[in-house]
Amino acid sequence: TVYPDQHIASRQIAARIANLIRKKQALGETTVLGLATGVTPIGVYAELVRLYKEEGLSFKGVVTFNLDEYYPMKPSAAQSYVTFMKENLFDQIDIDMANVHIPDGTLAPEDIAAFCLDYEQKISAYGGLDLQILGIGRTGHIGFNEPGSAPNSGTRLVTLDDLTRRDASRDFGGKQNVPTKAITMGIGTIFKAREIVLMAWNKKKAFIIKKAVEGEISSDVPATYLQLSENVEFVLDEDAASEL
Ligand code: GLP
Repeated sequence: TVYPDQHIASRQIAARIANLIRKKQALGETTVLGLATGVTPIGVYAELVRLYKEEGLSFKGVVTFNLDEYYPMKPSAAQSYVTFMKENLFDQIDIDMANVHIPDGTLAPEDIAAFCLDYEQKISAYGGLDLQILGIGRTGHIGFNEPGSAPNSGTRLVTLDDLTRRDASRDFGGKQNVPTKAITMGIGTIFKAREIVLMAWNKKKAFIIKKAVEGEISSDVPATYLQLSENVEFVLDEDAASEL
């Protein structure tokens, strides 16, 4: 779906999330959301905060799983995805922080594999993700599933692509300060979500959106795997869609 601009698109996605939450609340069911970081979803989070403050949307009982976190990373660091999620969403709504899950950037190396397995099991125990939102990196990554990621990959420790680290360098005051690794949900984890919404804005993303939507399905551009799912919607502004 192509919208005239990212503000309209973000409001549509937030409304879709709000409808899902309200529908499940009416049935007494838990909504399980897969959340993303980066600049792209900020407008969606801002609109969800507005719906909470002005339109009575409650996040009580909503359960969230974030896609990824840098490794190593202290939750209190300015660049952590924990800080990002608190600032842009969690600190401004009535969500119970016990229901919030973000990969742990402070694990000892020997504890990572067990943590990742547990992350998968927790998602399953809640009945799976109802809706996963995604941005896209310029390498074609979703979450931090860089080129080479397998379609059935699960939550795991990965090595970040050089371009991804370059793109993150501004947040860290130089590429040399960007962690070389991250913990990310896998392509297989994302695929199990009942609905997937990938969003992209601006000309900067047009070339990778073209590859993701029209390119040959290949691990070279992990977002191309989304072509294999029936539950995926790409939500774009006109600039991001301009090469389609
Ligand atoms: C990071 C995140 C991704 C995100 C990507 C794009 O690498 N791990 O989940 O999609 O950045 O970021 P932005 O939305 O800032 O362009």
